[in-house]
Amino acid sequence: MDRASTIMLVAFLLCLSTTVRAEDPYLFYTWKVTYGTISPMGVPQQVILINGQFPGPKINCTSNNNVIVNVFNELDEPLLFTWSGIQQRKNSWVDGTPGTMCPILPGTNFTYKFQVKDQIGSYFYFPTTSLQRAVGGYGPINVHSRELIPVPFDRPAEEFNVFVSDWYKKGYKTLKKILDNGQTIARPDGLVMNGKNGKVGENKLNPLFTMEPSKTYRYRVCNVGLRTSVNFRFQGHSMTLVEIEGSHTVQNVYDSLDLHVGQCLSVLVTANKEAKDYYLVATSRFFKQEFSTVALIRNGNGNGGPATPELPPPPPVNTEGIAWSINQFRSFRWNLTASAARPNPQGSYHYGQINITRTFKLVNSKTQANGKLRYAINGVSHTDPDTPLKLAEYFEIPGKVFKYDIMGDNPPDNLENPATLAPNVVNATFRNFVEIIFENHEKTIQTYHLDGHSFFAVGIEPGKWSPEKRKNYNLVDAISRHTIQVYPNSWAAIMTTLDNAGMWNLRSEMWARTYLGQQMYFSVLSPERSLRDEHNIPDNQLLCGLVKGMSVPHPYTI
Ligand SMILES: *[C@@H]1O[C@H](CO)[C@@H](O)[C@H](O)[C@H]1NC(C)=O
Ligand SMILES: *[C@@H]1O[C@H](CO)[C@@H](O)[C@H](O)[C@H]1NC(C)=O
Ligand SMILES: *[C@@H]1O[C@H](CO)[C@@H](O)[C@H](O)[C@H]1NC(C)=O
Ligand SMILES: *[C@@H]1O[C@H](CO)[C@@H](O)[C@H](O)[C@H]1NC(C)=O
Ligand SMILES: *[C@@H]1O[C@H](CO)[C@@H](O)[C@H](O)[C@H]1NC(C)=O
Repeated sequence: MDRASTIMLVAFLLCLSTTVRAEDPYLFYTWKVTYGTISPMGVPQQVILINGQFPGPKINCTSNNNVIVNVFNELDEPLLFTWSGIQQRKNSWVDGTPGTMCPILPGTNFTYKFQVKDQIGSYFYFPTTSLQRAVGGYGPINVHSRELIPVPFDRPAEEFNVFVSDWYKKGYKTLKKILDNGQTIARPDGLVMNGKNGKVGENKLNPLFTMEPSKTYRYRVCNVGLRTSVNFRFQGHSMTLVEIEGSHTVQNVYDSLDLHVGQCLSVLVTANKEAKDYYLVATSRFFKQEFSTVALIRNGNGNGGPATPELPPPPPVNTEGIAWSINQFRSFRWNLTASAARPNPQGSYHYGQINITRTFKLVNSKTQANGKLRYAINGVSHTDPDTPLKLAEYFEIPGKVFKYDIMGDNPPDNLENPATLAPNVVNATFRNFVEIIFENHEKTIQTYHLDGHSFFAVGIEPGKWSPEKRKNYNLVDAISRHTIQVYPNSWAAIMTTLDNAGMWNLRSEMWARTYLGQQMYFSVLSPERSLRDEHNIPDNQLLCGLVKGMSVPHPYTI
């Protein structure tokens, strides 16, 4: 046998013993995670690179592929990656949050194995440890439909990944120190696209992407920032929205789109204007003083002339801007006739007809504990114990690590009180159909993300929620997705079936808030400890905290 087939055979045997399905194709990645220096805002600073790249390497895969990522941690602190929006069905073991996995220690490596199942679209991975996400370690995950499944638009000439984010010159360890001292990290220094803050008229701006005249391209755009919502738009070109976080949308045409922290979407852009350079613009939203960045998009061979300095205007600001943004959210509809993997196998396609079994009303607050700044949900500010919650549960010692249900399903009367500092774990019933209302009483926008599930984003309105608001929900063609924004002094409602057994993080996507406690976990336990509901703990699972050295419980059975 030659070397390549030996490696394949070993890999095959290795994978047979784990949770991935052997008959589907494998993709292997080896990632070396290091510090490096780049100058996103013109000043050299320390960032996190993967295989020398910023943003990190693309995971380009097809639904049902098995993805194997061997991560070598060459940073000087623990590291974990999460695969945001990849549902990890029956497999929270590899979800990469501190509540599910032990971190990869410096100087060691760990191999993630998972299957991208029944989902198509644009996602990204990022580090969940410390405040590393402020300086990189993220990269795109593009999940394609299988060959036989029709996609509701023609194959684009090429696909481009755009990562837009706010940026701090301070570096993540300094930001972390500021938060640990009980202060806020304040306003970012600017915006970057794919690692660069570009200015209009800058001589050395190289094109980020080049299009050929009259061809159509798919731009997969993600906001990987720490806290800043953005609006993005192309000079002279409109965009056809085709996908949001794994759902094919009704294909509306937009001049500009709002994209909130943690969100991804795909637009088609046709190079149907004069062959020359154009700016792609991103502008901050909902800050008193706007800040922007531009990237150059070339149409043609570069001889067509420079981009004109007049940028397309951003949408309105203040209250009017919020109304504009809510209207745009309402225009996002799921294309019900496009054939694609449905996000929820249990038939919640007709989600409007399912009876709600539990309602959570979750209110965020900026508060304090022990005299220091904390962020909380319903008065509880989450802390990560040394023993991951999932492992404590699996090894049957949850009581030594956390208590279930210290947070109420509704907010306490007084959110001004100091927060309760504790692991925030809700005992959720397997297969319950839940409604979650996020109410934001603060002056800043929020975004939330749920692991392990897609949900239907059924409503957003200004003001306070009350049960009568349910009649305003979109119960027909809301987008199935995994993030939702909550505007200042507004509410947002989502619905989902908690049908994925595991320990799943619901968190603010604004990383300083998450870091200081604005997150929680749903423990979705299958009563049966059956392989039908959940995969076995992987053979290579790292053990730490109280479960280190404990003997692994009996595997699940059929
Ligand atoms: C990405 O995956 C798709 C579908 O599997 C394939 O058509 C395309 O060529 C891939 N692109 C790259 C750059 O590998
Ligand atoms: C670390 O990498 C080596 C290959 O260099 C691999 O054989 C080993 O399984 C990896 N360790 C873990 C825990 O994944
Ligand atoms: C929805 O998808 C179908 C099937 O691919 C397509 O024919 C139709 O144009 C799409 N509808 C809209 C409104 O985008
Ligand atoms: C939903 O609840 C209503 C009233 O409680 C009941 O009549 C109906 O049968 C339920 N529907 C389903 C699908 O369980
Ligand atoms: C979780 O809730 C279920 C009912 O849904 C109950 O049977 C179980 O005892 C609860 N577990 C804990 C640890 O509270």
